Amino acid sequence: MTNMPSREDQLAALLAVGGVIPVITLDRLEDAVPLARALAAGGVRLLEITLRTPAGLEGARAIMREVPNAVVGIGTVLTPDDLRRAVDAGARFALSPGATPALLEAAEAASIPFLPGISTASELMEAMARGFTTAKFFPATAAGGLAALRALAGPFPQARFCPTGGITEVNAAEWLAQPNVVAVGGSWLTPVAEIAAGQWDAIQERARRTRTMLGG
Ligand code: 3PG
Repeated sequence: MTNMPSREDQLAALLAVGGVIPVITLDRLEDAVPLARALAAGGVRLLEITLRTPAGLEGARAIMREVPNAVVGIGTVLTPDDLRRAVDAGARFALSPGATPALLEAAEAASIPFLPGISTASELMEAMARGFTTAKFFPATAAGGLAALRALAGPFPQARFCPTGGITEVNAAEWLAQPNVVAVGGSWLTPVAEIAAGQWDAIQERARRTRTMLGG
């Protein structure tokens, strides 16, 4: 018998680290560590490293090894096998843009918190039936934006969301101010061109500005 904290307790501890989660796609493995260091130096420590590129998982491992103050989650988890790879890599949490029954079943049995992606009431009900009351709301803007999120609060007062998809520096604060929003995420914090050019100072400064703006 271990004293492993429950997934809900783990998730609450993670969200206490910060309310903004950059959604990171790594084209080159060597960018992983300097990027994570820049974000962490700017006060953004909760990271979603996506499995969209071959460098993703290895980049996440490198960050976990070399940037101890970063808290690494794996995103774009589409299958039970992706989830297993995330857990094996040592990720602290995992996220998906959606949720199949197979993925929800695997996530229920996993040791780390998982945020399924939902964009409709029925998808949320499927996730909640499996015990997942905190979900990614994706694609947030295209799926109805703030109006849809506010509408979901009516029938689902216990549900909590991390909206992603169309969140920007301009609208992040408004999303985060919603009572059912626990964090916001997106790619705006890590522009592809800045990563490609190694503009770590610019990324650090945007992270710092965002944390200040969001009250972090
Ligand atoms: C995600 O997976 O959360 C999205 O790709 C992020 O969307 P954005 O690029 O509009 O921020």
